[in-house]
Amino acid sequence: MEIKPGEVIADVTQFDEHIKLIVPRYEELHDAVIRSIPPDLPEDLQILELGCGTGALTQKLCRRFPKAHITAIDYSIRMLELAREKLSSYCGRVRWVEGDFAHTRFPTRCDVVISTLAIHHLTDPQKLELFRKIHKALKKEGWFVNGDVVLFESDRHTFLHDQVRAEHASTQGVELNALDAETQSGSGDNLSTLKTQLALLEIAGFHSIDVIWKYYQFVVYGGFKYCLLSDDEEPRPPAALPDF
Ligand SMILES: C[S@@+](CC[C@H](N)C(=O)[O-])C[C@H]1O[C@@H](n2cnc3c(N)ncnc32)[C@H](O)[C@@H]1O
Repeated sequence: MEIKPGEVIADVTQFDEHIKLIVPRYEELHDAVIRSIPPDLPEDLQILELGCGTGALTQKLCRRFPKAHITAIDYSIRMLELAREKLSSYCGRVRWVEGDFAHTRFPTRCDVVISTLAIHHLTDPQKLELFRKIHKALKKEGWFVNGDVVLFESDRHTFLHDQVRAEHASTQGVELNALDAETQSGSGDNLSTLKTQLALLEIAGFHSIDVIWKYYQFVVYGGFKYCLLSDDEEPRPPAALPDF
């Protein structure tokens, strides 16, 4: 069976357990993306979630924001089925969309666009295109937040990522090698540095771009839609574009 980038494990019914073993501080990363949502946004938040997987973050969003409506996109039918089942009690507030977020049309007038552990599968030019699309989908002063895995600036620090993951696995009584043998996440990864992704956000027109949380190669970063632009006005690109 073909495993899509991001499905992580062949038997997706094991995803919820497996992701906690391979991503140190997985819950803390979720917590940071949720906490980053500013309290001055309306209670009946319109949230767009990219790469919802089995709905772990979607469920936390539903609980934290009881009046929010969420459009949750994923291209894995198998993951969406598990998510739908898990969140059946929230069915009136979550719209599940099967599709590739790089190509699917987004709703407009979102207060928040949110994603965890999914955007790193896109190349940098695709990330830029996605960030522009997210910028368009947001209302003025809307917030985009991404919790994801990035590269260190120097590959001389890559050992740290491996060390932290191995230590995390061993505290759960498992060997990283055994976990990695089951994990499909390496295929289809297109990790880039945090600095590159913050630059791409700026080019896409975001302002007040910030890093909310970081644990070695795991980060939570985001930006606001520029308040002085009208919804259909294009942002001015900064003077220098990075080379891809
Ligand atoms: C590692 S899982 C993370 C799921 C969830 N966000 C979480 O934190 O548990 C990544 C998810 O993103 C989805 N995904 C990756 N790239 C995608 C794309 N371009 N379009 C739609 N879904 C995508 C995968 O199918 C998978 O469900």
